[in-house]
Amino acid sequence: MSPTEPPNSTNIPDDGDLQLAPNGQLRHLLTMRGLDREQITELLDRSQTFVSEPGQAAVRSRALQGKTVANLFFEPSTRTRASFDLAAKRLGADVLNLDVNTSSRKKGESILDMIYTLEAMQVDAFVVRDAGSGIPGYIARHTNDNVSILNAGESDISHPTQALLDMLTIRQNKGRIEGLKVAIVGDIAHSRVARSASEALVTLGVGELRLVSPPDLAAEPGTVPDQARILYNLEEGLQDADVVMALRIQRERIGNLDGILGIDEYFATYGISHERMKLAAPDAIVMHPGPMNRGIEIESTLADSASSVITKQVRNGVAVRMAILSTVINTVDTR
Ligand code: CP
Repeated sequence: MSPTEPPNSTNIPDDGDLQLAPNGQLRHLLTMRGLDREQITELLDRSQTFVSEPGQAAVRSRALQGKTVANLFFEPSTRTRASFDLAAKRLGADVLNLDVNTSSRKKGESILDMIYTLEAMQVDAFVVRDAGSGIPGYIARHTNDNVSILNAGESDISHPTQALLDMLTIRQNKGRIEGLKVAIVGDIAHSRVARSASEALVTLGVGELRLVSPPDLAAEPGTVPDQARILYNLEEGLQDADVVMALRIQRERIGNLDGILGIDEYFATYGISHERMKLAAPDAIVMHPGPMNRGIEIESTLADSASSVITKQVRNGVAVRMAILSTVINTVDTR
C-alpha cells in the first residue's frame, strides 16, 4: 500500500459507494449521499434505542467490548468529539483520543502514515474531523478491510452524524420528516451541516426545504439538492415553517470577510428571534447544531425557550454515534 497524495478541493471523489461493504451493509459513514430512506430510517430507529431521558441513567452495552476506537480531530470540536468518546465508551470499546497537536504529524508525518501506525495497534474504527476536503474518504481508500472510518466533520462538505442527530430530533418532535416545511438559515455556503441535513431531509421526503442566507453566503449551485429553494429573504423563509435551523457564520472558512454583514446588521436581517418565529408554524421547533453565537444568528432567550430543541440535539448526538459505531464495526465483523 503506497501513500498517494490526499485530494484537494478540486478533485474530491464521491464517497457514496465507498461506504458500503460488498454485501450492501454500511462499513464506513462518510456522507449522507447514497444512503436511501430505508438505511437512514434503520439508523434512526437504532439510535432511538440508545436515547435516555434527562435524569435517567445513560444506556450502556458491551457490544463493542474488545474493540478500539480512535478519535482524530484535526479541527476543534466540543459536541462531536465528546459524544463519539462517550458513545464508544458506553458500548464498552477502548477509546484513544489522540492529541493531534502533540502527535508526530507536527514532525511532518503524513496522515496515512499516522493511520497505518495506529492500524498496527489494532484500531477498529477511526473517527476523523478535518478541515480538508475528501480526507475521510481518502483514509477509507487506504485502510485495511477490517477498519471503519467515520466522518466527524469534513471541511464545508459533509457532517453525516450531525445530519442523523438532526433527523432524529425532528422525528422525535414532529413524528415524521415527510411533508414538513424546513428552513435552514445562515451561512449556507460554508456549512457542512446544511449540506448533510439537506441531503438527509430530501431523502426522507421533506415537504419544502428552504435555504435562507445573505446572497454572499448562499449555496453554490450543485452543492445542495435540486429540491432546495434558495432564498435571501428571512421572512419568506420562515413563513409557516415547521422546523427552523439557525447556523453560525463559519468565519474560519471565509477567506475574505469584506462584504460579510457586521454583527448588528446580521442579527437585524437574518437573526432568528422570538418576534420572527411568529411567522413560523405555531408549534415550530428551533434548532442549532452549535456552537452558537448568541445574539448574532439566534436570540439568546429563544435558544433557551420551550420551542428550542438544541439541548435535545446534543443528547441525541451520543445516541446516534452509539448507533453508527455499533453498526459499522459489526458490519466489518460479519463481512
Ligand atoms: N455541531 C458540531 O459539530 O459541534 P462541534 O464543532 O462542537 O463538534
